Amino acid sequence: MDKIRSLTGMPDYSEKSEKDNVAAKLFHVENSLKEIFKTFNINEIRTPALERTSLFQRSVGDFSDIVNKELYSFNDKNDRSITLRPEGTAGVIRHIVENNLESYSNKFWYMGPMWRYERPQKGRYRQFNQAGIEYLGYEEGLAELELISIVCLIIEKLNIKNSVIKINHLGNESTKAEFAEAIKNYFEPYKSSLDEIDIDRLESNPLRLFDTKNKDLQKVLRNAPVLTDFLPKNSIDLLNHIKASFQSVEIEIDPTLVRGLDYYNGFVFEAISNDLGAQSSFLGGGRYDNLSSQLGGKIMNSIGMAIGLERISEISNIETDEKNRASFIILAGVDHTKAYKMAHELRSLNENVILETHLNCSSLKAELRRANKCKSQMAFIIGEEELKNNKILIKDLKNESNEQKNVSYDELIKIYKNL
Ligand code: HAM
Repeated sequence: MDKIRSLTGMPDYSEKSEKDNVAAKLFHVENSLKEIFKTFNINEIRTPALERTSLFQRSVGDFSDIVNKELYSFNDKNDRSITLRPEGTAGVIRHIVENNLESYSNKFWYMGPMWRYERPQKGRYRQFNQAGIEYLGYEEGLAELELISIVCLIIEKLNIKNSVIKINHLGNESTKAEFAEAIKNYFEPYKSSLDEIDIDRLESNPLRLFDTKNKDLQKVLRNAPVLTDFLPKNSIDLLNHIKASFQSVEIEIDPTLVRGLDYYNGFVFEAISNDLGAQSSFLGGGRYDNLSSQLGGKIMNSIGMAIGLERISEISNIETDEKNRASFIILAGVDHTKAYKMAHELRSLNENVILETHLNCSSLKAELRRANKCKSQMAFIIGEEELKNNKILIKDLKNESNEQKNVSYDELIKIYKNL
């Protein structure tokens, strides 16, 4: 029979796979991020992976690439169009609006898989994982500072080199209107060379033109008016203030930074690393004060970000295994139940040890090979002889000498407690 293969762009993550230990790193990064979120007193929220398609059309936006080309949408048995979430923000705000929580302040984090039907390449998957943060009910100012403070801490804790945080401000409603007018005038002579989607963008949200992959349009945009020229003083002050507040990571004001989702309205940012190749952005976010009202609720100040977990774990430089590792080896022919009882008792004596029980019960040689492969620093070996005399053979696997000694069970307990 044919083997069933996974879908394109949807990788498995198995900690056991030796290949670069990608999974071990990913899981470790997830745990480190949860620890960081805890220190800021951010609460966890979990929303469903499936939502109504209209949620993403009304939030991420009809003109965004995500909604336009990349949604995993299908009809359910009731013929309703539903979609696998391409991102986490829309679901969180849907939850707030549905439960009339817009007047409360909240700090949320979430972690989980997202789906976008993109062309897979290095760092770009169709199922990928994000960790996100949403700060709800906070005006512009301190909340912006705190998000960038979190980004700096993440970059430091995960020991990420060669990274830059790019920041920009999209201004207020009048900035947007003045800028839209200027850019429409600028594009008048070039309009016939634009494709349909860019003409739509020019009408509905000209800022998104700067997101284009079209090389000819990119050339024309080089001399186009820039948003910064239309920004009010307080927006420029905020950018300068944020840039001056953090020294540990490079922060760059980038007037061309526009995010690929339609809901942003003020401060926006992205962190990039040259070590990632073409898909260089490993996190991004910004302010989106109008989303709750776009989803039928009351207006609510909101700002957030999402971290691409595959990308950030690729560039993180952290030790994945800090605990002591040991192997408990029960040799062939030994009364398993009696021997296993010891392993069970040992485990509760020291939670800092990762104790792998070898369940194959084969020869000493094969089991020691296995112990070395799983990087055990020490092996506790029980053969028939040991069990009869209530002894255990301890073998040091850390040093070349491979010293070994026979100890009583009571001595083993003392040694194990001090590992
Ligand atoms: P986003 O920029 O679309 O923002 O995604 C955030 C991060 O997810 C990206 O910087 C990237 O690292 C990762 N990512 C996106 N697409 C892929 C993919 N196909 N494969 C691998 N990684 C990917 C958002 O999703 C917003 N919800 C962020 C936000 C939260 N804004 C406000 N609150």
